[in-house]
Order: sequence, then structure tokens, then C-alpha cells
Amino acid sequence: MARIKMVAGNWKMNKNLQEGVALATELKEAVKNPKCAVVIGTPFIHLATVSELLKGSAIKVAAENCADHEKGAYTGEISAEMVKSTGAEYVILGHSERRQYYAESYAMLEAKVRLALANGLKVIFCIGEIKEEREAGQQNEVVKAQLEGSVFGLSAEEWKNIVLAYEPVWAIGTGLTATPEQAQEIHAYIRSLVAEKYGKEAAEDTTILYGGSCNEKNAAELFACPDIDGGLIGGAALVAEKFLAIIAAR
Ligand code: PGA
Repeated sequence: MARIKMVAGNWKMNKNLQEGVALATELKEAVKNPKCAVVIGTPFIHLATVSELLKGSAIKVAAENCADHEKGAYTGEISAEMVKSTGAEYVILGHSERRQYYAESYAMLEAKVRLALANGLKVIFCIGEIKEEREAGQQNEVVKAQLEGSVFGLSAEEWKNIVLAYEPVWAIGTGLTATPEQAQEIHAYIRSLVAEKYGKEAAEDTTILYGGSCNEKNAAELFACPDIDGGLIGGAALVAEKFLAIIAAR
């Protein structure tokens, strides 16, 4: 089984409902027979409307977060089950902005991942080092700890619903992209960790996306690397032409 190639957007906290519907509509018209899986990650408020709009299309919908509890008295939180009920199929978890600004710990992320999987969602799980860690040559240790801390406790069966996204924090929204060589090197290392844990076949089937200032100009070069299966796109996913060009590059 060849692993799935994917281009996923992460809108973050951008676009009100009307703007989001307009962008999703534009994408729906343009994305007919993509050569890869296409996912858009939207704020919670868009999920139901955009999932309905994209039903039967080539584009899948992702939430950008979900709660670390099943249900109950957690004012303002959105559970994995609620996300699933909107028609969304994926959830992005472990994004560096969640880790950094909302203090999401390894244990909290593990709880979120387990709840997401238990509710039938697929997970795009983000890992990546900060600038100081890269400068100190610690990137491998960092991604290993992030995987061991939150997702390497999953069963082999559960692992089939995990997509990884390597996103060096120093490259997110900064215009600084990892070079294809830097990205390929760590993607290959990540795949080797998956192989140690789940076996070579599972590692070969695992989709590993690159994220961090990936855009319509650099996508083709990054995607040409053997262990880079696609991209998780922030800023460039907010403009239809750019996102479409990245999909075409995959
Ligand atoms: P960026 O964001 O493409 O704007 O750098 C990527 C991400 O955070 O997923």
C-alpha cells in the first residue's frame, strides 16, 4: 500500500464564517481530481457549515483542536465527539501554538489523541523543535520525546489513523523554511522512529507532512523529497490560488 500524499490547510484563527464559506466554496469548485488528499483545518465555528458544503467533494475537513475530556462541565471546550458530529473527519493536534500559548502537555495531548481516535476522527499530529533547540542540534531528541510522550502508546491499529506533521517552530509564519535537505533528514529520522515502534511496513505507510512557511514557491522542491509526503499549510492556505498551487505541486 502506497502511503497517502496530502496537502492540509490550517486556517488558525482567521476568517469569519462568511469568509470561510467563501474560501471553501472557491476551493470546492477548483479541486476536482486532486492527485493527493486535500484537507482544510478550520476554526470550530466553520466545521458544520463547511463540512456540509464539501460533502461529496474531494476536500475533507479538520478541526484545529479538541478537548482533553470526554464531556461535561468544561465551559467553552469542544469535545472530539462534537467535532465528529459536524461531519469533520480530522483534527489537528499538538500544534506548536497550542503547546506554546495554551501549555498543552504531552499527557494532555495524549488524552486528546485518544479521544479523537475513539470518536472516529483521524489525527494530524504536529511535532517540531524551537529555534534554540535546532541551534543546539537537539531537533531529533525533541521530536522523539514529543512522539514518545503523546502518540507512541497507541496500538498498531490506532496508528493507522495518525498523520504526522513535522513543523519546525522557527519556520512557522516566519518566512524561514527548512531547506529540503534539513526537512528530508528529519523526516527520514521520524520515519525510522515509527519503524522502530510499529515496524517497517507501518512506517512506510505513515504520511509525514512538512509545515512551516511552505508556500506555492517552495512546495514542489520540498515535496520532491522521498520522506516528505505533503504539507501542512498556514498562511498560504488562506488564499485560494496559493493553496491550489500547492495542491498542484503535490
Ligand atoms: P505557516 O504555518 O505555513 O503560516 O508557516 C504552518 C502551520 O503552523 O501549520
